[in-house]
Amino acid sequence: MALRQIRIMGDEKLTKVCRPVQMMTPRTKLLIRDMLDTMYDANGVGLAAPQVGILRRIVVIDIGDGPLVLINPEILETSGEQTGQEGCLSLPGQAGMVTRPNYVKVKALNEDMEEFVTEGEELLARAICHECDHLEGIMYVEKVEGDLFEVSDEPEEEGEESGQSEESGQSEESEQSEQGEA
Ligand code: NI
Repeated sequence: MALRQIRIMGDEKLTKVCRPVQMMTPRTKLLIRDMLDTMYDANGVGLAAPQVGILRRIVVIDIGDGPLVLINPEILETSGEQTGQEGCLSLPGQAGMVTRPNYVKVKALNEDMEEFVTEGEELLARAICHECDHLEGIMYVEKVEGDLFEVSDEPEEEGEESGQSEESGQSEESEQSEQGEA
């Protein structure tokens, strides 16, 4: 297990448009493993490659149903609307209200570079949109309605150089943690 440092808002990597993945390499496979490890370690529900400083179109998501890896994702269809609390591992301890589609259909490549189509509703739809925005250099704060607010009940602040996670920070599931950061 290898953790990568999560870039915090203000880092220029978070503002760049990412490049597509052309072929799978051992290095890219490792990046995906590390992204999953890093996301789980930070108790996040999603992570995009630019958040660990890599400008490639790769996102990982897990809203509690197991890992979903999307390479070169492309949103094909959206419908409905949801307005809810959203956070980001690149802005720990903060959240804001964001309106997203309630349903998303997305096309992507898997780790074998095979195309597949998947869909999600509610939190999954929100996570897919949030992560795809990262690949365009867009942070959710650009879409927040009203002010950001502090969220006290968040997982430990990632981005510290400690390299050790505090297990004590993991309380049982609360409504707060279900929203997750991405
Ligand atoms: Ni994010």
